[in-house]
Amino acid sequence: MSTITQPEGQRTWLLEMPGSSYAITSSRESGLPRHLHWGRPIGHETASAIAAASPLRQNVEHVAWAEEDRLECVGWGGRRYDEPTIKVDFADGTRGIEWHLADQETTRDGDAITLVLGLQDRAYPLRVELFYRIFDDSDVLERWARLVVPEHGREIVVRRAYSANWWLPERTGWRLSFLHGGWGSETQLERRILGSDKHVLESRRGTTSHQYQPFFALDADGCATEDHGEVWSGQLAWSGAWKITGERTAGGQVHVTGGWNDFDAAIVLTPGSELALPVFAGLYCEGGFGEMSRTWHDYELRHVLAHPGRSPQSPSFSAKPQHHDAGAPLPKLRPVLYNSWEATAFGVDEENQRQLADLAAQMGVELFVVDDGWFMGRKDDRAGLGDWHVDVEKFPRGLAPLIEHVKQLGMGFGIWIEPEMVNPDSDLYRAHPDWVLHFENRTRTEKRNQLVLNLARDDVAEWVLSTVDDLLSSYDIDFVKWDMNRHFSEPGWPQRKSANPERAWIAYTENLYRILDRLHEAHPAVDFESCSGGGGRADLAILSRTRQIWTSDNTDAFDRIPIQEGFSYAHAPLAMMAWVTDSPNPLTRRELPLTYRFHVAMAGSLGIGGNLSEWTPTQRAQARDLIERYKEFRPVVQYGKLFRLLELSRDDIAALQYIARDERAIVVFAWSGARHYGTHSGWVRLKGVDPTASYRDRETGTLHLGTTLRELGLPLPLLLSFSSMCVHLERVD
Ligand code: DGJ
Repeated sequence: MSTITQPEGQRTWLLEMPGSSYAITSSRESGLPRHLHWGRPIGHETASAIAAASPLRQNVEHVAWAEEDRLECVGWGGRRYDEPTIKVDFADGTRGIEWHLADQETTRDGDAITLVLGLQDRAYPLRVELFYRIFDDSDVLERWARLVVPEHGREIVVRRAYSANWWLPERTGWRLSFLHGGWGSETQLERRILGSDKHVLESRRGTTSHQYQPFFALDADGCATEDHGEVWSGQLAWSGAWKITGERTAGGQVHVTGGWNDFDAAIVLTPGSELALPVFAGLYCEGGFGEMSRTWHDYELRHVLAHPGRSPQSPSFSAKPQHHDAGAPLPKLRPVLYNSWEATAFGVDEENQRQLADLAAQMGVELFVVDDGWFMGRKDDRAGLGDWHVDVEKFPRGLAPLIEHVKQLGMGFGIWIEPEMVNPDSDLYRAHPDWVLHFENRTRTEKRNQLVLNLARDDVAEWVLSTVDDLLSSYDIDFVKWDMNRHFSEPGWPQRKSANPERAWIAYTENLYRILDRLHEAHPAVDFESCSGGGGRADLAILSRTRQIWTSDNTDAFDRIPIQEGFSYAHAPLAMMAWVTDSPNPLTRRELPLTYRFHVAMAGSLGIGGNLSEWTPTQRAQARDLIERYKEFRPVVQYGKLFRLLELSRDDIAALQYIARDERAIVVFAWSGARHYGTHSGWVRLKGVDPTASYRDRETGTLHLGTTLRELGLPLPLLLSFSSMCVHLERVD
């Protein structure tokens, strides 16, 4: 059981999680909370010894400030030159902050324990509360803050409000791992030694973005591997503009700050108001990058995707849980879905969707999703967004007959929407040209012929809510693919000229969360998928309101391998939607075998996205068998522990292994890339197998000793380019 304790009369708090500890002290002179430890488990004795030890620094400036070194909340002010977490303007022009610790509270709520440290400015009525929440079953520490201006205070302008900062221990050679990419090439893993420069990961796009994920991992001396070594990592639970900065301070310490992006930031806080910041979660683990990912996955499954309702002190996680089976510790397994986008694009109509639904059902698909193109004026991407009425030319009888047909076939029905957007060529825009984000006298820059509705406006947010609510109330819909195909430009809110228009950056996302939370409340059985032109909006907060992420618009199975590998660093396979599409792939023109495409997509939540009418009967039969096979081991992939055995970038073969939660089943996938003649493929050794047990291959019946799997492994029949394998082993006692 995790604990947060502070021994009587001492100034040290110790947060003890199953495999790690985090310790804080409050300095005697200033009373400010200072960071002591984040790493292996320690006791109070060690925490006190660390607190008593003075850091040795040659830099005189830092010796004088040792008492204020490693602050848990760095308010800008005084002789402080590292990245502050909070910076404000007071009404009289004062801009520095001087805190002291005013109060503290520790509470337990079920399996979660929260410590709140209340800091008060010495002269001005401004309070900041630092939150630390841990769980009995996880090493993830959730941190965030809340700023409070009391009734008797005066207005302040917040210029920067980061959720938290993480101090890394005294080590050398810090290496940063992060996820970088673009449209169609999301979540590519990159690594870099953290030098004396600052390393900034950010989005100024209004979503998390394809460019960087709000995720970092650090290891010392670049020596952590997949299976060994200490790794410190973090994820920001926010779906709008964000920033994470890694720096080495003048005193040589490594410090990571993160939260809302402070670019173009001004948040006016009036007397009696407060500002709750998103969660910046951190995780320390000793077992390398593999254990790091498995711990994030488990946290995501238990506390993000299937949380039983959270206290709403931070905007990150909904207080209203997603539909959750009472007592079930894990989210529902994801159904095998079919999506029409790559088959029919904007040309959806009742007839072609019926045909696709028939074929999909024969193959064992469980959820049929009609993508873009079903609503008024949507012949291409030039028109229609905003006018969410069924196109009567394409669906003369409305959507109901198609939905009925899909349900009769035994599948759920899903639909695509992009409700945050508007095409200038739409009735909505003609009626409300002022509803979009824009600056007066400036171009309204279009992307994919669309503009962004200003969701920060409550009237616009209400319209979005009632539009989607109407759709879900009018039809028997089980699933919504919620898309957002362009990022912000000209993020103006002219109606609020002198009333803090910069607030749009944050209010937009807060209202998006409100809309999703209210839709969950009104339609608890409907599941949502987060899509932003692929994986442009992927983070813990959106995952607490949606079941899954559309990982990338690039469905080329070979390109998907590194995308999915990077995604798995931060997010669980259950949340990773992966489709099998046509060959040659419409984006890359690469031809790949059907089994290869399946084996790649089966490594996450499986979907089918090809034009089934053009698949041969043999291909459809093969697909049916593969889907049936996937269903047999689906819980192992979606709930299991993931081990990245071989990485394409390193080994020219990629291999993943999943172990069921009860350890009674194992699934292994392996894929080759383009191979030269004469190269070997060899064997791949499995991890986490019980050496005293035997494992039977469910397909061939071959029996493997646990020791053989551990020492020699499974043979990899991957001598040819773009070959793949999928093995499902069952433990036999
Ligand atoms: C982008 C999505 O990522 C695609 O899957 C598809 O839904 C299109 N938008 C539709 O416009």
